[in-house]
Amino acid sequence: MAEDVVPPRKPGFETLAIHAGQDPDPTAGAVTVPIFQTSTFAQEAVGKHKGYDYARTGNPTRTALETCLAALEGGAWGLAFGSGMAATDAVTHTLSHGDHVVMGDDVYGGTYRLFARVYDRVGIEITPVDMRDPRDVAKAMRKRTKLVWIESPTNPLLKVVDIAAVAEIAHKAGALAVVDNTFASPYLQQPIGLGADIVLHSTTKYIGGHSDVVGGALVGTDEELREKLAFIQNAAGGVPGPLDAWLVLRGAKTLAVRMDRHSATAMA
Ligand SMILES: Cc1ncc(COP(=O)(O)O)c(C=O)c1O
Repeated sequence: MAEDVVPPRKPGFETLAIHAGQDPDPTAGAVTVPIFQTSTFAQEAVGKHKGYDYARTGNPTRTALETCLAALEGGAWGLAFGSGMAATDAVTHTLSHGDHVVMGDDVYGGTYRLFARVYDRVGIEITPVDMRDPRDVAKAMRKRTKLVWIESPTNPLLKVVDIAAVAEIAHKAGALAVVDNTFASPYLQQPIGLGADIVLHSTTKYIGGHSDVVGGALVGTDEELREKLAFIQNAAGGVPGPLDAWLVLRGAKTLAVRMDRHSATAMA
């Protein structure tokens, strides 16, 4: 009689946090991804290298973090940045003069400041909206709306947005839905499954978890979008150093247990 075949279980969140992008290092078998503290990588011949040439473009410690964050968010790719604002700035760099953004009216103050006081000068307009009623988002959409910037829960008022409903409104108008998932973290909320095109993090917060590093990240599924944002990441250069990438990666390993405790404490 044929033995029952048990299909392999998909790795859970905690397993991904510890293993995604983090195979033992082939050099010495280190089980923790090394801090590749180098600016440049040797090339056998011009353009012939092991996947890395210059550390702004890519660094193996950063790759491990990017792969891990993509796995935790249920995305296909991740891009790490030197801060949450650098990640926000990279997304903003996809816009052009005359473009319009519909944005939550209680997003992180630094996000609002970047749009209202830096990108206003290049002619990018924003309309802040209380997104708790998706109908108000629909009313704010214009022909030139390219992004719908969702933060949920918001910082500081903890407003909660129906991400699926708002992402649908964005897509109907041909705009991208960006979700700042910093406050929920991927342990409690995975916006890609709700229709988000880009998930943004200030990894400085729950993902880092130890108040010892500033970082940011973007996660998504669309390959064309990855190429566009990776180009900006390299061209504008807002990348994290290898030690910072390593610290965020270490923080992510304990995200699940910390979020469980945060949630229990909040309920109490
Ligand atoms: C929700 C949210 N998004 C983005 C940021 C910006 O991140 P960073 O401080 O890492 O640049 C913050 C920072 O407080 C935040 O709370």
